Amino acid sequence: MTEKGLREILAADTKLSDIDGEAGRLWYVGYDIADLAAHATFEETIYLLHNLELPTREQLNRLNTFLVRERELHPFLARMMPTLAQNASPMSMLRTGISASSAFDPDGWDDSPEAEYRKAMRLIAETPTLIATYHRVRTDQEVVPPHPSLSHAANFLWMLHGDEPSDEDARVLDTTFVLYGDHTMNASTFAARVVASTLSDMFSAITAAIGALKGPLHGGANEESQKMAEEVGKPENADAYVRERLAAGKKVMGFGHAVYKTMDPRARVLKQLCEDLAERRNQPQWYQIFSSLEQATFEQKGLYPNVDLYAAGVYHMLGIPTDLMTPLFALARMAGWTAHVREQYADNRIIRPGSEYVGPKDRTYVPIDERA
Ligand code: ACO
Repeated sequence: MTEKGLREILAADTKLSDIDGEAGRLWYVGYDIADLAAHATFEETIYLLHNLELPTREQLNRLNTFLVRERELHPFLARMMPTLAQNASPMSMLRTGISASSAFDPDGWDDSPEAEYRKAMRLIAETPTLIATYHRVRTDQEVVPPHPSLSHAANFLWMLHGDEPSDEDARVLDTTFVLYGDHTMNASTFAARVVASTLSDMFSAITAAIGALKGPLHGGANEESQKMAEEVGKPENADAYVRERLAAGKKVMGFGHAVYKTMDPRARVLKQLCEDLAERRNQPQWYQIFSSLEQATFEQKGLYPNVDLYAAGVYHMLGIPTDLMTPLFALARMAGWTAHVREQYADNRIIRPGSEYVGPKDRTYVPIDERA
């Protein structure tokens, strides 16, 4: 029998990110994630993942100008939004919206490296607008157009809430985007690279990635973590909650990781952000509930939190509706996915793993009326 889940199988060479699961370390293009989370903006991270170097001020300005220009929702998507807002979950809307974007991308079927770069930047630029517009439409609020002088993160909060966020809130969200930006060969990135390896287009590859991210074992875990914290209600309930869940054979969401065997380095940063935000917002209960869950799950099962646990608390306190938490993960991961797709195109061979056949062998066709 094969080892399930392709563990330990290397599917590609990449220059984008690297993990040491034993030590709990993550690097983007050689920079430690803690260093980037403390100092880099999401825009710098986008540039880094796509160009393998941090930008100069002029390079960053050029990137910003392009991203800001491409924020506006295309009328085609704006027309689709009322139907999507009424009938589709946020992740299904995003999957459909990104897929539909192929219909009007000015670079069309041009697959030159320059065109693929522009397509990637357009996808990154339009994702926040898709999510915020969807939310405004489904809640019968006026759509807020993108703000040209706000950062990627601040502009998202502006479009979602209709007022300008404080610098502190914008920086917190920005940092979560840096943390979610890339993560080696996770399930959604692999899905994107498999599609790209057939030389299918960028939009198809990213649509596949969104489908993979949607599942509760991957990106869906931040939403599940928030629901879990709400069910727990107060810190003193965490121990019994975890005990019952484990006894019932259920997963504790936001814990465990396929690669990290210790604390996820992103969770360490998010834990601090959650604690600081809880204090600033005067909502200490959220930090306390999540940290009680951390303690109980470690004591009872030896599991550490992953990126999604404290991200849920941070997003909740920033006023992000729970069902938009996974779309926010996608918004940030758009930087990594598109960079991986471009990396795949640059040195491609179709991805086609083998399988071990474990079914019956050497059978002979039996006519339908003679079958038992
Ligand atoms: N709750 C309870 N038990 C768990 C959890 C959890 N969160 N995570 C792992 N375990 C158990 C497994 O069931 C397994 O138990 P067993 O040996 O009795 O069968 C044991 O711990 C070891 O599991 P691993 O092999 O380390 O985990 P795997 O690589 O199969 O799965 C995964 C990793 C999917 C992330 C898993 O930990 C999980 O389901 N976590 C909850 C969902 C979640 O938070 N997902 C987000 C992951 S991060 C991301 O995608 C951004």
